[in-house]
Amino acid sequence: MKILVTESIAEDAINYLKDEGFEVEEYLGHKQDEIEEYIKGFDGLIVRSATKVNETLLANSDCLKVVGRAGNGIDNIDVKACTNKGVIAVNTPEANIMAAAELAVAHAFAIFRNICVANEGVHNDDYRRGNWIGNELEGKTAGVIGLGRIGSIVARKLKGIGMTVIAYDPHIPQEKFDKVGVKRCKDLEELLKESDLITLHTPKNKETQNMITKKELYICKRGVRIINAARGGLINEVDLAEALASGQVAGAAIDVFDIEPNYNKEPGTQQYENVLLTAPNCIITPHLGASTMEANHNVGAKVTELVAKALKGELVAAINMPSFSGNMATIKPYISLAEKLGRLYYQAESSAIKKIEVVYRGALASQETGIITLSLLKGILEGMGNEHVTFVNVQEAFEDCGIEVVEAKTTQINKYNNLINVKFYTDDGRQLELDGTIFGQETEVLVSFFGYEMNFQFANTIIAMQNKDVPGVIGKVATILGSHDINIECMHWGRKADKKETAQSFVAVEKPVSQDVIDEIAKVDGVNRISLLEFN
Ligand code: NAD
Ligand code: MLT
Repeated sequence: MKILVTESIAEDAINYLKDEGFEVEEYLGHKQDEIEEYIKGFDGLIVRSATKVNETLLANSDCLKVVGRAGNGIDNIDVKACTNKGVIAVNTPEANIMAAAELAVAHAFAIFRNICVANEGVHNDDYRRGNWIGNELEGKTAGVIGLGRIGSIVARKLKGIGMTVIAYDPHIPQEKFDKVGVKRCKDLEELLKESDLITLHTPKNKETQNMITKKELYICKRGVRIINAARGGLINEVDLAEALASGQVAGAAIDVFDIEPNYNKEPGTQQYENVLLTAPNCIITPHLGASTMEANHNVGAKVTELVAKALKGELVAAINMPSFSGNMATIKPYISLAEKLGRLYYQAESSAIKKIEVVYRGALASQETGIITLSLLKGILEGMGNEHVTFVNVQEAFEDCGIEVVEAKTTQINKYNNLINVKFYTDDGRQLELDGTIFGQETEVLVSFFGYEMNFQFANTIIAMQNKDVPGVIGKVATILGSHDINIECMHWGRKADKKETAQSFVAVEKPVSQDVIDEIAKVDGVNRISLLEFN
Protein backbone atom coordinates (compact mmCIF):
# COMPACT_ATOMS: atom_id res chain seq x y z
CA MET A 1 0.00 0.00 0.00
CA LYS A 2 1.17 3.53 -0.77
CA ILE A 3 1.38 6.48 1.60
CA LEU A 4 1.90 10.08 0.48
CA VAL A 5 3.60 12.47 2.91
CA THR A 6 3.13 16.10 1.89
CA GLU A 7 4.81 17.83 4.83
CA SER A 8 7.99 16.94 6.64
CA ILE A 9 7.84 14.45 9.51
CA ALA A 10 10.68 12.80 11.45
CA GLU A 11 12.86 10.48 9.38
CA ASP A 12 12.58 7.59 11.84
CA ALA A 13 8.80 7.77 11.43
CA ILE A 14 9.13 7.43 7.63
CA ASN A 15 11.48 4.49 8.14
CA TYR A 16 8.99 2.86 10.47
CA LEU A 17 6.35 2.92 7.71
CA LYS A 18 8.81 1.42 5.22
CA ASP A 19 9.74 -1.30 7.72
CA GLU A 20 6.05 -2.06 8.07
CA GLY A 21 5.97 -2.77 4.34
CA PHE A 22 4.42 0.44 3.05
CA GLU A 23 5.62 2.32 0.00
CA VAL A 24 6.20 5.90 1.18
CA GLU A 25 6.56 8.93 -1.05
CA GLU A 26 7.60 12.28 0.39
CA TYR A 27 6.08 14.99 -1.80
CA LEU A 28 7.23 18.07 0.06
CA GLY A 29 6.93 21.78 -0.74
CA HIS A 30 4.23 21.35 -3.39
CA LYS A 31 1.28 23.63 -3.95
CA GLN A 32 -2.19 22.61 -2.83
CA ASP A 33 -3.46 22.08 -6.41
CA GLU A 34 -0.45 19.89 -7.20
CA ILE A 35 -1.18 17.71 -4.15
CA GLU A 36 -4.85 17.51 -5.12
CA GLU A 37 -3.79 16.11 -8.49
CA TYR A 38 -1.10 13.82 -7.11
CA ILE A 39 -3.25 12.02 -4.53
CA LYS A 40 -4.47 9.32 -6.95
CA GLY A 41 -3.18 5.86 -6.16
CA PHE A 42 -2.36 6.56 -2.51
CA ASP A 43 -3.99 4.61 0.30
CA GLY A 44 -2.73 6.90 3.05
CA LEU A 45 -1.92 10.60 3.32
CA ILE A 46 0.12 12.27 6.06
CA VAL A 47 -0.05 16.06 6.40
CA ARG A 48 0.79 18.72 8.94
CA SER A 49 -1.08 22.04 8.99
CA ALA A 50 -0.46 23.41 5.48
CA THR A 51 -2.04 20.77 3.23
CA LYS A 52 -5.80 21.20 3.02
CA VAL A 53 -7.58 17.87 3.06
CA ASN A 54 -10.63 19.30 1.33
CA GLU A 55 -13.45 18.03 -0.88
CA THR A 56 -11.40 18.45 -4.06
CA LEU A 57 -8.49 16.40 -2.73
CA LEU A 58 -10.85 13.72 -1.44
CA ALA A 59 -12.85 13.65 -4.69
CA ASN A 60 -9.63 13.18 -6.67
CA SER A 61 -8.42 10.34 -4.46
CA ASP A 62 -9.32 6.90 -5.74
CA CYS A 63 -8.18 4.59 -2.96
CA LEU A 64 -7.49 6.84 0.02
CA LYS A 65 -8.37 5.11 3.29
CA VAL A 66 -6.72 7.20 5.97
CA VAL A 67 -5.51 10.75 6.49
CA GLY A 68 -2.98 11.27 9.27
CA ARG A 69 -2.69 14.78 10.63
CA ALA A 70 0.80 14.97 12.12
CA GLY A 71 -0.14 17.41 14.83
CA ASN A 72 -2.96 18.72 16.87
CA GLY A 73 -5.31 21.22 15.14
CA ILE A 74 -7.64 19.77 12.52
CA ASP A 75 -8.82 23.00 10.92
CA ASN A 76 -7.11 21.96 7.65
CA ILE A 77 -9.03 18.65 7.52
CA ASP A 78 -12.60 18.57 6.20
CA VAL A 79 -13.63 15.86 8.64
CA LYS A 80 -17.19 15.65 7.29
CA ALA A 81 -15.95 15.14 3.74
CA CYS A 82 -13.55 12.45 4.99
CA THR A 83 -16.42 10.67 6.73
CA ASN A 84 -18.62 10.85 3.64
CA LYS A 85 -15.85 9.25 1.64
CA GLY A 86 -15.15 6.63 4.33
CA VAL A 87 -11.68 8.04 4.92
CA ILE A 88 -10.45 7.64 8.49
CA ALA A 89 -8.98 10.84 9.89
CA VAL A 90 -6.48 10.57 12.73
CA ASN A 91 -4.39 13.17 14.52
CA THR A 92 -1.90 13.30 17.36
CA PRO A 93 -3.51 15.67 19.85
CA GLU A 94 -1.19 14.92 22.76
CA ALA A 95 2.13 14.65 20.97
CA ASN A 96 3.14 18.31 20.76
CA ILE A 97 1.20 20.00 23.54
CA MET A 98 4.22 20.47 25.79
CA ALA A 99 6.15 22.08 22.95
CA ALA A 100 3.29 24.48 22.18
CA ALA A 101 2.75 25.31 25.85
CA GLU A 102 6.46 26.01 26.39
CA LEU A 103 6.53 28.34 23.38
CA ALA A 104 3.63 30.35 24.78
CA VAL A 105 5.44 30.69 28.11
CA ALA A 106 8.67 31.67 26.32
CA HIS A 107 6.69 34.30 24.43
CA ALA A 108 5.34 35.63 27.74
CA PHE A 109 8.87 36.24 29.02
CA ALA A 110 9.96 37.68 25.69
CA ILE A 111 7.20 40.29 25.53
CA PHE A 112 7.42 41.24 29.21
CA ARG A 113 11.21 41.73 29.02
CA ASN A 114 11.67 43.04 25.46
CA ILE A 115 14.08 40.19 24.78
CA CYS A 116 13.69 40.09 21.00
CA VAL A 117 13.87 43.81 20.36
CA ALA A 118 16.87 44.19 22.70
CA ASN A 119 18.63 41.32 20.95
CA GLU A 120 18.02 42.95 17.59
CA GLY A 121 19.30 46.29 18.93
CA VAL A 122 22.51 44.84 20.28
CA HIS A 123 23.18 43.06 17.00
CA ASN A 124 22.79 46.46 15.34
CA ASP A 125 25.26 48.20 17.71
CA ASP A 126 22.55 49.65 19.97
CA TYR A 127 23.29 48.96 23.66
CA ARG A 128 20.93 51.55 25.22
CA ARG A 129 19.34 49.23 27.74
CA GLY A 130 17.22 52.05 29.13
CA ASN A 131 15.06 51.73 26.02
CA TRP A 132 14.12 48.15 26.88
CA ILE A 133 12.92 48.27 30.42
CA GLY A 134 10.26 45.61 30.80
CA ASN A 135 7.89 44.31 33.46
CA GLU A 136 7.99 41.31 35.76
CA LEU A 137 5.51 38.48 35.38
CA GLU A 138 5.45 37.74 39.09
CA GLY A 139 2.31 39.12 40.68
CA LYS A 140 0.57 39.93 37.37
CA THR A 141 -2.64 38.29 36.15
CA ALA A 142 -2.62 35.94 33.20
CA GLY A 143 -5.87 35.19 31.39
CA VAL A 144 -5.96 31.85 29.58
CA ILE A 145 -8.62 31.56 26.88
CA GLY A 146 -9.31 27.87 26.33
CA LEU A 147 -8.38 25.63 29.25
CA GLY A 148 -7.83 22.47 27.21
CA ARG A 149 -4.69 20.39 26.89
CA ILE A 150 -2.29 23.23 26.08
CA GLY A 151 -4.12 25.96 28.01
CA SER A 152 -3.96 23.85 31.19
CA ILE A 153 -0.21 23.31 30.88
CA VAL A 154 0.34 27.01 30.22
CA ALA A 155 -1.84 27.90 33.23
CA ARG A 156 0.16 25.59 35.52
CA LYS A 157 3.48 26.97 34.29
CA LEU A 158 2.41 30.59 34.65
CA LYS A 159 1.19 29.87 38.17
CA GLY A 160 4.58 28.35 38.83
CA ILE A 161 6.31 31.63 38.02
CA GLY A 162 4.12 33.56 40.40
CA MET A 163 1.30 34.83 38.21
CA THR A 164 -2.34 34.80 39.21
CA VAL A 165 -4.06 32.76 36.53
CA ILE A 166 -7.67 33.12 35.46
CA ALA A 167 -9.32 31.32 32.58
CA TYR A 168 -12.30 31.50 30.27
CA ASP A 169 -13.63 28.32 28.69
CA PRO A 170 -17.39 27.94 28.36
CA HIS A 171 -17.26 24.28 27.35
CA ILE A 172 -15.63 22.59 30.32
CA PRO A 173 -16.91 21.87 33.82
CA GLN A 174 -15.93 23.72 37.00
CA GLU A 175 -13.94 20.63 38.09
CA LYS A 176 -11.37 21.30 35.39
CA PHE A 177 -10.79 24.86 36.65
CA ASP A 178 -10.49 23.49 40.19
CA LYS A 179 -8.07 20.80 39.06
CA VAL A 180 -5.80 23.28 37.33
CA GLY A 181 -6.29 25.68 40.24
CA VAL A 182 -7.40 28.75 38.33
CA LYS A 183 -10.31 31.13 38.75
CA ARG A 184 -13.12 30.63 36.24
CA CYS A 185 -14.22 33.79 34.42
CA LYS A 186 -17.97 33.90 33.84
CA ASP A 187 -17.44 35.46 30.42
CA LEU A 188 -14.72 36.68 28.10
CA GLU A 189 -15.22 40.27 29.23
CA GLU A 190 -14.27 39.42 32.81
CA LEU A 191 -11.03 37.83 31.59
CA LEU A 192 -10.24 40.76 29.32
CA LYS A 193 -10.79 43.31 32.09
CA GLU A 194 -8.63 41.55 34.69
CA SER A 195 -5.66 40.29 32.66
CA ASP A 196 -2.21 41.81 32.22
CA LEU A 197 -1.35 38.97 29.86
CA ILE A 198 -3.80 37.14 27.62
CA THR A 199 -2.91 33.84 25.99
CA LEU A 200 -5.18 32.03 23.54
CA HIS A 201 -5.48 28.26 23.39
CA THR A 202 -8.75 27.48 21.63
CA PRO A 203 -9.31 25.65 18.35
CA LYS A 204 -10.17 27.76 15.31
CA ASN A 205 -13.81 27.46 14.36
CA LYS A 206 -16.81 29.66 13.59
CA GLU A 207 -17.19 30.49 17.26
CA THR A 208 -13.57 31.43 17.93
CA GLN A 209 -12.58 33.13 14.66
CA ASN A 210 -12.19 36.85 15.36
CA MET A 211 -13.01 36.32 19.03
CA ILE A 212 -10.59 39.20 19.76
CA THR A 213 -11.31 42.27 17.65
CA LYS A 214 -10.92 45.99 18.28
CA LYS A 215 -13.91 45.90 20.65
CA GLU A 216 -12.36 43.22 22.88
CA LEU A 217 -8.89 44.78 22.72
CA TYR A 218 -10.25 48.03 24.10
CA ILE A 219 -12.08 46.28 26.94
CA CYS A 220 -8.62 45.17 28.13
CA LYS A 221 -6.40 47.15 30.51
CA ARG A 222 -4.24 49.66 28.67
CA GLY A 223 -0.81 48.08 28.22
CA VAL A 224 -2.11 44.50 28.09
CA ARG A 225 0.12 41.91 26.41
CA ILE A 226 -1.24 39.18 24.14
CA ILE A 227 0.00 35.81 22.91
CA ASN A 228 -1.48 33.70 20.14
CA ALA A 229 0.25 30.35 19.68
CA ALA A 230 -3.03 28.57 18.86
CA ARG A 231 -4.42 29.45 15.45
CA GLY A 232 -4.23 32.52 13.23
CA GLY A 233 -7.48 34.41 12.91
CA LEU A 234 -8.55 34.07 16.55
CA ILE A 235 -7.34 37.67 16.92
CA ASN A 236 -8.19 40.11 14.16
CA GLU A 237 -4.76 40.98 12.80
CA VAL A 238 -5.62 44.48 11.52
CA ASP A 239 -7.22 45.43 14.85
CA LEU A 240 -4.26 44.05 16.80
CA ALA A 241 -1.77 46.01 14.67
CA GLU A 242 -3.75 49.19 15.30
CA ALA A 243 -3.96 48.51 19.07
CA LEU A 244 -0.21 47.87 19.20
CA ALA A 245 0.45 51.14 17.37
CA SER A 246 -1.81 53.07 19.76
CA GLY A 247 -0.22 51.56 22.87
CA GLN A 248 -3.47 49.96 24.00
CA VAL A 249 -1.62 46.66 23.62
CA ALA A 250 1.94 46.96 24.93
CA GLY A 251 3.22 43.82 23.26
CA ALA A 252 2.09 40.79 21.33
CA ALA A 253 3.64 37.46 20.45
CA ILE A 254 2.23 35.72 17.42
CA ASP A 255 3.13 32.20 16.29
CA VAL A 256 0.29 31.71 13.84
CA PHE A 257 -1.33 33.76 11.07
CA ASP A 258 -4.81 33.89 9.61
CA ILE A 259 -3.28 33.15 6.22
CA GLU A 260 -0.03 31.33 6.76
CA PRO A 261 3.08 31.82 4.62
CA ASN A 262 4.83 28.90 2.95
CA TYR A 263 7.22 27.67 5.61
CA ASN A 264 9.53 25.92 3.15
CA LYS A 265 10.44 28.68 0.71
CA GLU A 266 13.88 30.28 0.54
CA PRO A 267 14.05 33.89 1.81
CA GLY A 268 12.92 36.35 -0.87
CA THR A 269 11.02 33.77 -2.90
CA GLN A 270 7.52 34.48 -1.65
CA GLN A 271 5.59 37.71 -1.47
CA TYR A 272 4.08 37.15 1.94
CA GLU A 273 2.35 40.14 3.45
CA ASN A 274 0.80 40.54 6.85
CA VAL A 275 -0.05 43.70 8.74
CA LEU A 276 1.60 42.32 11.89
CA LEU A 277 5.01 42.02 10.22
CA THR A 278 5.50 45.76 10.60
CA ALA A 279 3.49 46.23 13.81
CA PRO A 280 5.50 47.65 16.71
CA ASN A 281 6.20 45.49 19.79
CA CYS A 282 5.10 42.35 18.04
CA ILE A 283 7.23 39.24 18.23
CA ILE A 284 6.57 36.82 15.42
CA THR A 285 7.63 33.20 15.15
CA PRO A 286 6.91 31.04 12.08
CA HIS A 287 4.43 28.56 13.59
CA LEU A 288 7.14 27.20 15.86
CA GLY A 289 4.83 25.91 18.60
CA ALA A 290 5.37 22.25 17.79
CA SER A 291 8.92 22.61 16.54
CA THR A 292 10.98 20.72 19.06
CA MET A 293 12.93 17.55 18.48
CA GLU A 294 10.79 15.87 21.11
CA ALA A 295 7.47 16.92 19.55
CA ASN A 296 8.69 16.04 16.05
CA HIS A 297 9.61 12.60 17.26
CA ASN A 298 6.34 12.12 19.20
CA VAL A 299 4.14 13.40 16.38
CA GLY A 300 5.92 11.37 13.68
CA ALA A 301 5.92 8.18 15.73
CA LYS A 302 2.26 8.53 16.70
CA VAL A 303 0.86 9.53 13.32
CA THR A 304 2.69 6.77 11.47
CA GLU A 305 1.60 4.19 14.04
CA LEU A 306 -2.04 5.26 13.63
CA VAL A 307 -1.89 5.39 9.83
CA ALA A 308 -0.20 1.97 9.64
CA LYS A 309 -2.77 0.43 11.99
CA ALA A 310 -5.69 1.98 10.13
CA LEU A 311 -4.36 0.72 6.79
CA LYS A 312 -4.04 -2.76 8.26
CA GLY A 313 -7.73 -2.55 9.19
CA GLU A 314 -7.14 -2.22 12.92
CA LEU A 315 -9.35 -0.06 15.04
CA VAL A 316 -7.76 3.29 15.83
CA ALA A 317 -9.05 6.29 17.75
CA ALA A 318 -10.05 8.46 14.82
CA ILE A 319 -11.41 11.98 14.77
CA ASN A 320 -14.39 10.85 12.72
CA MET A 321 -15.25 7.73 14.68
CA PRO A 322 -18.00 7.54 17.26
CA SER A 323 -16.38 8.38 20.59
CA PHE A 324 -15.80 5.45 22.89
CA SER A 325 -15.45 5.82 26.62
CA GLY A 326 -15.51 2.15 27.61
CA ASN A 327 -12.69 -0.22 28.42
CA MET A 328 -10.92 -0.79 25.08
CA ALA A 329 -8.63 -3.53 26.43
CA THR A 330 -11.68 -5.58 27.46
CA ILE A 331 -13.65 -5.24 24.26
CA LYS A 332 -10.80 -5.29 21.71
CA PRO A 333 -10.86 -9.09 21.20
CA TYR A 334 -14.65 -8.92 20.70
CA ILE A 335 -14.24 -6.22 18.03
CA SER A 336 -12.05 -8.61 16.08
CA LEU A 337 -14.34 -11.59 16.75
CA ALA A 338 -17.43 -9.65 15.62
CA GLU A 339 -15.78 -8.70 12.33
CA LYS A 340 -15.02 -12.39 11.70
CA LEU A 341 -18.61 -13.38 12.47
CA GLY A 342 -19.74 -10.73 10.00
CA ARG A 343 -17.30 -11.82 7.29
CA LEU A 344 -18.25 -15.42 7.76
CA TYR A 345 -21.88 -14.95 6.72
CA TYR A 346 -21.52 -14.24 3.01
CA GLN A 347 -18.66 -16.70 2.65
CA ALA A 348 -20.91 -19.48 3.87
CA GLU A 349 -24.35 -18.35 2.75
CA SER A 350 -25.79 -16.59 -0.27
CA SER A 351 -29.27 -15.53 0.93
CA ALA A 352 -29.64 -11.77 1.26
CA ILE A 353 -29.99 -10.46 4.81
CA LYS A 354 -33.11 -8.53 5.74
CA LYS A 355 -32.42 -7.96 9.43
CA ILE A 356 -29.65 -8.61 11.92
CA GLU A 357 -30.06 -9.05 15.62
CA VAL A 358 -26.94 -9.05 17.73
CA VAL A 359 -27.16 -10.06 21.38
CA TYR A 360 -24.29 -9.51 23.80
CA ARG A 361 -24.49 -12.04 26.59
CA GLY A 362 -22.74 -12.35 29.92
CA ALA A 363 -20.27 -9.81 31.30
CA LEU A 364 -20.01 -8.25 27.84
CA ALA A 365 -23.53 -6.91 28.34
CA SER A 366 -22.22 -4.34 30.81
CA GLN A 367 -19.70 -2.97 28.28
CA GLU A 368 -20.10 -0.24 25.66
CA THR A 369 -20.75 -2.50 22.67
CA GLY A 370 -21.62 -0.06 19.85
CA ILE A 371 -18.17 -0.36 18.38
CA ILE A 372 -18.41 -4.18 18.39
CA THR A 373 -21.64 -3.96 16.41
CA LEU A 374 -19.97 -1.61 13.93
CA SER A 375 -17.21 -4.17 13.53
CA LEU A 376 -19.77 -6.90 12.84
CA LEU A 377 -21.46 -4.73 10.19
CA LYS A 378 -18.06 -3.90 8.68
CA GLY A 379 -17.33 -7.61 8.40
CA ILE A 380 -20.67 -8.26 6.69
CA LEU A 381 -20.11 -5.44 4.18
CA GLU A 382 -16.59 -6.70 3.46
CA GLY A 383 -18.10 -10.10 2.86
CA MET A 384 -20.45 -8.44 0.36
CA GLY A 385 -17.37 -7.19 -1.51
CA ASN A 386 -17.47 -3.61 -0.23
CA GLU A 387 -13.77 -2.76 -0.16
CA HIS A 388 -14.18 0.82 0.98
CA VAL A 389 -15.94 0.24 4.22
CA THR A 390 -14.24 1.56 7.34
CA PHE A 391 -15.33 2.19 10.89
CA VAL A 392 -16.20 5.75 9.91
CA ASN A 393 -18.68 5.01 7.13
CA VAL A 394 -19.92 1.54 8.02
CA GLN A 395 -23.09 2.75 9.72
CA GLU A 396 -24.10 4.86 6.75
CA ALA A 397 -23.13 2.16 4.25
CA PHE A 398 -25.24 -0.32 6.15
CA GLU A 399 -28.23 2.00 6.27
CA ASP A 400 -27.90 2.39 2.50
CA CYS A 401 -28.30 -1.38 2.17
CA GLY A 402 -31.61 -1.13 4.00
CA ILE A 403 -30.77 -3.89 6.47
CA GLU A 404 -32.31 -3.45 9.88
CA VAL A 405 -29.95 -3.84 12.85
CA VAL A 406 -31.11 -4.56 16.38
CA GLU A 407 -28.75 -4.70 19.33
CA ALA A 408 -29.67 -6.32 22.63
CA LYS A 409 -27.85 -7.18 25.85
CA THR A 410 -28.43 -9.70 28.57
CA THR A 411 -26.30 -10.87 31.45
CA GLN A 412 -27.96 -14.30 31.19
CA ILE A 413 -25.64 -16.93 29.78
CA ASN A 414 -25.29 -20.69 30.15
CA LYS A 415 -21.91 -22.02 29.17
CA TYR A 416 -19.48 -19.17 28.63
CA ASN A 417 -18.50 -15.94 30.37
CA ASN A 418 -19.33 -13.86 27.31
CA LEU A 419 -21.03 -14.52 24.03
CA ILE A 420 -21.83 -12.67 20.84
CA ASN A 421 -24.95 -14.15 19.31
CA VAL A 422 -25.83 -12.96 15.81
CA LYS A 423 -29.14 -13.80 14.17
CA PHE A 424 -29.36 -13.22 10.44
CA TYR A 425 -32.94 -12.97 9.15
CA THR A 426 -32.81 -13.74 5.44
CA ASP A 427 -34.94 -12.50 2.58
CA ASP A 428 -36.22 -16.06 2.03
CA GLY A 429 -37.62 -16.19 5.56
CA ARG A 430 -34.92 -18.15 7.39
CA GLN A 431 -33.13 -17.34 10.62
CA LEU A 432 -29.45 -18.32 10.69
CA GLU A 433 -27.36 -17.92 13.81
CA LEU A 434 -23.67 -17.60 14.64
CA ASP A 435 -22.25 -17.56 18.15
CA GLY A 436 -18.72 -16.59 19.06
CA THR A 437 -16.80 -16.16 22.26
CA ILE A 438 -13.32 -15.40 23.54
CA PHE A 439 -11.39 -18.01 25.47
CA GLY A 440 -8.64 -16.69 27.74
CA GLN A 441 -7.46 -13.24 26.75
CA GLU A 442 -7.94 -13.27 22.98
CA THR A 443 -8.64 -16.68 21.49
CA GLU A 444 -11.56 -16.21 19.09
CA VAL A 445 -13.82 -19.23 19.04
CA LEU A 446 -16.88 -20.04 16.96
CA VAL A 447 -19.26 -21.92 19.24
CA SER A 448 -22.22 -22.31 16.97
CA PHE A 449 -22.59 -22.20 13.22
CA PHE A 450 -26.03 -22.03 11.61
CA GLY A 451 -27.49 -24.42 14.20
CA TYR A 452 -24.48 -26.75 14.56
CA GLU A 453 -22.71 -26.72 17.91
CA MET A 454 -19.04 -26.01 17.38
CA ASN A 455 -15.91 -25.30 19.32
CA PHE A 456 -13.58 -24.02 16.65
CA GLN A 457 -10.80 -21.51 16.97
CA PHE A 458 -10.83 -19.04 14.08
CA ALA A 459 -7.92 -19.43 11.67
CA ASN A 460 -6.91 -17.54 8.52
CA THR A 461 -8.19 -20.21 6.14
CA ILE A 462 -10.97 -22.62 6.96
CA ILE A 463 -12.77 -25.12 4.75
CA ALA A 464 -16.33 -25.45 6.01
CA MET A 465 -18.26 -28.53 4.81
CA GLN A 466 -21.60 -30.07 5.40
CA ASN A 467 -21.17 -33.76 4.88
CA LYS A 468 -22.83 -37.11 5.53
CA ASP A 469 -21.81 -38.25 8.98
CA VAL A 470 -20.40 -41.56 7.74
CA PRO A 471 -16.87 -43.01 7.96
CA GLY A 472 -14.41 -42.18 5.17
CA VAL A 473 -15.48 -38.70 4.06
CA ILE A 474 -12.89 -36.79 6.04
CA GLY A 475 -10.19 -39.28 5.01
CA LYS A 476 -10.85 -38.50 1.35
CA VAL A 477 -10.81 -34.76 1.98
CA ALA A 478 -7.52 -35.04 3.88
CA THR A 479 -6.02 -37.06 1.01
CA ILE A 480 -6.93 -34.33 -1.49
CA LEU A 481 -5.43 -31.64 0.70
CA GLY A 482 -2.28 -33.72 1.20
CA SER A 483 -1.92 -34.22 -2.56
CA HIS A 484 -1.84 -30.43 -2.91
CA ASP A 485 0.72 -30.13 -0.12
CA ILE A 486 -1.81 -28.39 2.14
CA ASN A 487 -1.25 -29.13 5.79
CA ILE A 488 -4.23 -29.39 8.11
CA GLU A 489 -3.95 -27.23 11.23
CA CYS A 490 -7.05 -28.31 13.04
CA MET A 491 -10.35 -30.14 12.41
CA HIS A 492 -13.70 -30.14 14.13
CA TRP A 493 -17.10 -31.73 13.59
CA GLY A 494 -20.32 -30.31 14.83
CA ARG A 495 -23.77 -31.92 14.82
CA LYS A 496 -27.30 -30.76 15.21
CA ALA A 497 -29.19 -32.50 17.99
CA ASP A 498 -32.11 -33.30 15.64
CA LYS A 499 -30.12 -34.09 12.46
CA LYS A 500 -27.51 -36.64 13.40
CA GLU A 501 -26.95 -37.92 9.86
CA THR A 502 -25.28 -34.64 8.76
CA ALA A 503 -22.16 -33.13 10.23
CA GLN A 504 -20.69 -29.67 9.87
CA SER A 505 -16.95 -30.04 9.47
CA PHE A 506 -14.44 -27.23 9.87
CA VAL A 507 -10.92 -27.82 8.59
CA ALA A 508 -8.34 -25.11 9.25
CA VAL A 509 -5.40 -25.29 6.87
CA GLU A 510 -1.98 -23.74 6.95
CA LYS A 511 -1.99 -22.03 3.58
CA PRO A 512 -4.43 -20.50 1.09
CA VAL A 513 -6.58 -22.94 -0.87
CA SER A 514 -7.39 -22.46 -4.55
CA GLN A 515 -10.90 -22.75 -5.99
CA ASP A 516 -9.73 -25.85 -7.94
CA VAL A 517 -8.99 -27.65 -4.68
CA ILE A 518 -12.38 -26.62 -3.28
CA ASP A 519 -14.07 -27.91 -6.45
CA GLU A 520 -12.19 -31.21 -6.12
CA ILE A 521 -13.34 -31.63 -2.51
CA ALA A 522 -16.91 -30.72 -3.47
CA LYS A 523 -16.98 -33.80 -5.74
CA VAL A 524 -16.18 -36.19 -2.87
CA ASP A 525 -19.07 -38.54 -2.24
CA GLY A 526 -20.73 -37.47 1.02
CA VAL A 527 -19.74 -33.77 0.82
CA ASN A 528 -23.05 -31.93 0.49
CA ARG A 529 -21.89 -28.39 0.64
CA ILE A 530 -18.55 -26.61 0.91
CA SER A 531 -17.40 -23.04 1.59
CA LEU A 532 -13.98 -21.50 1.85
CA LEU A 533 -13.76 -19.07 4.78
CA GLU A 534 -10.89 -16.59 4.74
CA PHE A 535 -10.16 -14.17 7.55
CA ASN A 536 -6.71 -12.67 7.00
P1 NAD B 1 -7.98 21.38 23.24
O1 NAD B 1 -9.08 20.94 22.37
O2 NAD B 1 -7.39 20.44 24.21
O3 NAD B 1 -8.44 22.68 24.05
C1 NAD B 1 -9.13 23.73 23.48
C2 NAD B 1 -9.99 24.34 24.55
O4 NAD B 1 -10.60 25.50 24.00
C3 NAD B 1 -11.12 23.42 25.01
O5 NAD B 1 -11.09 23.25 26.41
C4 NAD B 1 -12.37 24.14 24.57
O6 NAD B 1 -13.44 23.97 25.47
C5 NAD B 1 -11.90 25.57 24.56
N1 NAD B 1 -12.74 26.45 23.75
C6 NAD B 1 -13.41 26.17 22.62
N2 NAD B 1 -14.11 27.25 22.21
C7 NAD B 1 -13.87 28.22 23.10
C8 NAD B 1 -14.31 29.56 23.23
N3 NAD B 1 -15.14 30.11 22.33
N4 NAD B 1 -13.85 30.28 24.27
C9 NAD B 1 -13.03 29.74 25.19
N5 NAD B 1 -12.59 28.48 25.14
C10 NAD B 1 -13.01 27.73 24.10
O7 NAD B 1 -6.87 21.95 22.25
P2 NAD B 1 -5.31 22.04 22.54
O8 NAD B 1 -4.68 20.75 22.20
O9 NAD B 1 -5.08 22.61 23.86
O10 NAD B 1 -4.88 23.07 21.39
C11 NAD B 1 -5.19 24.43 21.51
C12 NAD B 1 -4.85 25.16 20.24
O11 NAD B 1 -3.45 25.13 20.01
C13 NAD B 1 -5.48 24.59 18.97
O12 NAD B 1 -5.93 25.64 18.16
C14 NAD B 1 -4.33 23.89 18.30
O13 NAD B 1 -4.52 23.79 16.92
C15 NAD B 1 -3.20 24.82 18.65
N6 NAD B 1 -1.84 24.27 18.53
C16 NAD B 1 -0.89 25.10 18.02
C17 NAD B 1 0.41 24.65 17.93
C18 NAD B 1 1.47 25.53 17.35
O14 NAD B 1 2.38 25.01 16.73
N7 NAD B 1 1.40 26.81 17.50
C19 NAD B 1 0.75 23.38 18.38
C20 NAD B 1 -0.25 22.57 18.91
C21 NAD B 1 -1.55 23.05 18.99
C1 MLT C 1 -0.54 21.59 15.52
O1 MLT C 1 -1.72 21.88 15.40
O2 MLT C 1 -0.15 20.47 15.84
C2 MLT C 1 0.47 22.66 15.32
O3 MLT C 1 -0.10 23.78 14.77
C3 MLT C 1 1.75 22.26 14.74
C4 MLT C 1 1.79 21.98 13.28
O4 MLT C 1 0.95 21.32 12.75
O5 MLT C 1 2.72 22.40 12.63
